[in-house]
Amino acid sequence: MEIREIRKLKNLRGELSIPGDKSISHRSVMFGALAEGTTKITNFLEGADCLSTIDCFRKMGVEIQRRPEEILVHGRGLHGLCTPTGTLFLGNSGTTTRLLSGILAGQSFSTELTGDESLCSRPMKRIITPLTRMGAQVQSLSGNDCLPMRISGKPLTGIHYSSPVASAQVKSCVLLAGMYADRETSVTEPVLSRDHTERMLRFFGADIKSEGTTASILPEPELCAREIQVPGDISSAAYFLAAGLLVPGSEILLKNVGINPTRDGILRVIRDMGGDVTLLHVRQDGEPTADLLVRASALHGTTVQGSIIPTLIDELPMIAVLAAFAQGTTVIRDAAELRVKESDRIAVMTENLKRMGADIEATQDGMIIRGGRPLHGAEIDSHLDHRVAMSFAVAGTVCDGTLTIRDSQCVDISYPQFYRDLYSLQPDLKE
Ligand code: S3P
Repeated sequence: MEIREIRKLKNLRGELSIPGDKSISHRSVMFGALAEGTTKITNFLEGADCLSTIDCFRKMGVEIQRRPEEILVHGRGLHGLCTPTGTLFLGNSGTTTRLLSGILAGQSFSTELTGDESLCSRPMKRIITPLTRMGAQVQSLSGNDCLPMRISGKPLTGIHYSSPVASAQVKSCVLLAGMYADRETSVTEPVLSRDHTERMLRFFGADIKSEGTTASILPEPELCAREIQVPGDISSAAYFLAAGLLVPGSEILLKNVGINPTRDGILRVIRDMGGDVTLLHVRQDGEPTADLLVRASALHGTTVQGSIIPTLIDELPMIAVLAAFAQGTTVIRDAAELRVKESDRIAVMTENLKRMGADIEATQDGMIIRGGRPLHGAEIDSHLDHRVAMSFAVAGTVCDGTLTIRDSQCVDISYPQFYRDLYSLQPDLKE
């Protein structure tokens, strides 16, 4: 177990190139593997989750070359995957599990999937239900609708699925299975979730439509290899947006960050809280991107609820920390999904912010944070949740005293060079 101590910083200055988007990195390998030809990926996120995706596809016969500047995926076509030898281990990655399950449902072989302790406690019924309706055989081997699971691919029937949750993983799982179905497959969600699957599958040549909160796909697409430039991950940028806002005297430029409207809720919340963030060099090629200039700001409380929630779901731990340092009350609701992420993020954020002296109350679907109390260092249990660790690392740069993070290395899941990047903004300090 790694324990890391964080102390106050001042005047964070400089620029950072944010590592590649996790969601887009996963999809570029998956769709590249199912395409004809060689897909070239640049700015791929070399985090543990995306490496789990590479590992799984290699085990199904896909040749994937990792070079310092690029990843090359030698696609095998929609029906080219081979039976893996042994169980596929998916580490901590919910995205790999749920998207891959959709692909496996349409194969002519059976696969067993498992993961680490956190992943094995995450709900899979949300994908078992639609995949079973399409005709796949999906069995939770412990009988608790969680991993380990066995997926026996079958000829699939296209369905219309009304998902009870706004989840890009569920939507993507069903759409990917739909590529192997006998007719059109569509998914309607209660609120639009991130649309990277729809955008990227269309780019690879699939016949996929989006209308409001419904996406539909025609079967048997001929996917063609593409070149993918992965934009910086706004979910990783969020920690530096927060540090830039909170650490007095800061001004940070975050280069090449994805600002897809289904992901940019954090920018809207920061503005609602009175934060100073400017978008520079907005580019619209494929996924929209921009450079984000953030300056230290006096923040006030806000309400975060409704249709914005899926657009910032992974940023809510960081928003909870921002709210604790802001003046006034912040209410987060409609975010019950936080309870089934890598940890129960409502419980874990509440427990740890309380240890720092914050006035915070957990609700069933969110948190109420009465901000502005002086916060002090404490021992933070990350519960091996990368987003919790990074959110508290930022809190530690602003609070009084020393903040200690247990299992601080779990940032490797989505941002291996996180601590190095944080200290690079204050060159007189070493990591
Ligand atoms: C993801 C979707 C979200 C998000 C996760 C990545 C994706 O999960 O929290 O980090 O890449 O599709 P849900 O679909 O469960 O909301």
